[in-house]
Amino acid sequence: MAAQKPGLFIVLEGGEGVGKSTNMAFIQQYLQQQQITFTASREPGGTPFAEQIRELILAKQEESVDATAELLLVFAARAQHLAQKIQPTLAAGQWLVCDRFTDATYAYQGGGRQLSKQLIAELEQMVQGDLRPDKVIVLDAPIEVGRARAANRAELDRLESEQDAFHQRVRAAYLERAAARPDHYAVIDATQPLVQVQEDISSVLDQLIQQWRAA
Ligand code: TMP
Repeated sequence: MAAQKPGLFIVLEGGEGVGKSTNMAFIQQYLQQQQITFTASREPGGTPFAEQIRELILAKQEESVDATAELLLVFAARAQHLAQKIQPTLAAGQWLVCDRFTDATYAYQGGGRQLSKQLIAELEQMVQGDLRPDKVIVLDAPIEVGRARAANRAELDRLESEQDAFHQRVRAAYLERAAARPDHYAVIDATQPLVQVQEDISSVLDQLIQQWRAA
């Protein structure tokens, strides 16, 4: 019997308040309509143990949190998520749609916290081996737009509470990574009306579905 064709690994990324949750729901609904079997997940988190690490990362702390400690926690959660959920899902031929993955580390710990990209790349290789997402969809908006939307939330977490310069660097890091590998990323203007954003997302998904079915 032929080996099972692995599922595709799709990641949704973007800064605060760009509409990630709404569009994660849209992606799931769209894949369901197209009869693609998938699992949805998120980072940091995705398994009970990794979700506990997420709480630790996002909770406001009395002491200042060291950037390297934060970076290692993010990768600790990722190692667990990969072993328990991402790899088995893809190997079973299902798609895995993830709300954030390692691009968020390059954006938040690399851009925001200004940690070395080389160090992040080394941890990425150690934890993931050669596994990379098949496509990263980046929802992009100026930080003022995201801020205004995020302000409606009850309480901001430790990362959301960072200053504007931090969030500017996060946005710039996403755009820089996407520009370096345009075939691997789809940058979508999140300031457009929602219907247009979703039309853009569905055309990215249509292309992936077509290629995957033909493979
Ligand atoms: P969110 O998924 O609800 O947007 O929250 C996750 C937060 O964690 C967000 O502020 C980005 C941050 N984060 C990192 O700092 N590094 C990472 O590698 C990941 C996956 C998320």
